[in-house]
Formats: sequence, structure tokens, C-alpha cells
Amino acid sequence: MMTDQNFLKDIVKATSSGKKPTKEQLEWYGMFLPSTPLLQCDLSKNKNIMDYLWAIIDEAKEADINFNSKLAGNISNSLSLIDRDGYFFDTFLKGVCTEYIKEHIRYHFDLDIGLREFWVNFSKKHEFNPLHDHAGLLSFVIWMDIPTKSKDQHNLPISKHSGVPAASDFQLVYTDVTGSIRTHSIDMDPSMNGTIILFPSNMAHQVYPFYECEDERVSISGNIFGKTSPWDTIKYDTGS
Ligand SMILES: [Fe+2]
Repeated sequence: MMTDQNFLKDIVKATSSGKKPTKEQLEWYGMFLPSTPLLQCDLSKNKNIMDYLWAIIDEAKEADINFNSKLAGNISNSLSLIDRDGYFFDTFLKGVCTEYIKEHIRYHFDLDIGLREFWVNFSKKHEFNPLHDHAGLLSFVIWMDIPTKSKDQHNLPISKHSGVPAASDFQLVYTDVTGSIRTHSIDMDPSMNGTIILFPSNMAHQVYPFYECEDERVSISGNIFGKTSPWDTIKYDTGS
């Protein structure tokens, strides 16, 4: 029987490879409940997509359609984005989102989906996004320009003696299989520029402020809905 410090890791490895104990052995094996994965992709590997996203950010600045009142963020400026001719949604998002929704949200339904809300945030130091969720079925964040390094932010006097340094973090909040509240923090660094994450729209998340940096943080977000009438969503009445 496995009894060393890798005991549980070995169980996870053995179970996920489909290995079960033989009848003669007295061994533990894991039972893993269904779980929803979040998806992540590094868009910086695709120049066309990144150039397009920066171009529509420039267009949003010109059009200057303010989006703040629709959002939870306590940040100076959020602007409505337009996905011209559906380029970003149709060529990059639609396929993966359709599969994800079918597998994890609207089980086994073929659903026509669309990008209904799409915006860009320009955050300055000390600004924050309080705990909130989004409308829609699936939502995403793309970090376009992170001006700070997580290591430096966690080393600031307010964070460095904390048991939970969090300055500048993006954090997902969820309940585990026992119903206990858990968090998953994502360090914000320039290396995250171009990274997109996809998550269920009703998954709570928050963004902690960054400090001692005069540059803006630029991020894009969007909500994907089912094209039913009215648009299919998990809930309508929450901040985006
Ligand atoms: Fe959000």
C-alpha cells in the first residue's frame, strides 16, 4: 500500500489513468465528482487577433461609448467594443464556446450563441472590481496590457507581511464539493498580456487594485448568450 508523502498524488494519478486496485490488493482510489474546467489560451501567439483587438480598442476610444454604468468595476473608464463583422467571435470564440456550453452549461443542447456584451476596461492604480458575476452563459477576460509585476505588488509594504498577499490579483471565487468557499488567484504580470480565460458567466470573481504605477491596465471582457428569445442567460439581474 502507498504510504509515503506522495500517497494522495499517487492515488490521483492512478485513478485518472483508469487504474483500479486488483481484488487481492487493499488500496485506496479516488472518486472524482464532475467538475467544470476553465479554459485559457495565449492569444499573443496570433498576431492577427492581437492586432484586431488593439484596432477595435482604438475604434472604441474614438466612438467613446461609455460602459461603466453596466459594470461592477470601480474604475475610471470602460468603453463599449464592437466586434466588426463578428470577426473575433466567429473565427475564434464561437466553436470553443459552443462546445463548452454543450458540455458544461446547457447540457447536450445545440444552441446558437452570440457575443452580446463586449467592452474594454482602462484601470488606473487604486481602482478595483468588487466581487461580481456576469449575465450570459459564458464570459471571458483578455488581459491586453498589464503594467505591473505580481512579485513587486505582493512585496509592497501593505502586502508583504500578509498571509494572503493579493495586490493586483485577478481572483475567481467558487464553492468546492463540500460547499466551502474557495478562491483561485491569477497573478497579473506583463507575461499575461494576450491571455484569455473563459468561465461560466455566473462564476464570481474580483480584481484587487494595483499600486505605485502610473500606467493603465487594459483588459477586454465579454458575455456570450444563447440566441433564444429573450437571449438565454443564467440570470439577468447582476452587474457585468
Ligand atoms: Fe467581471
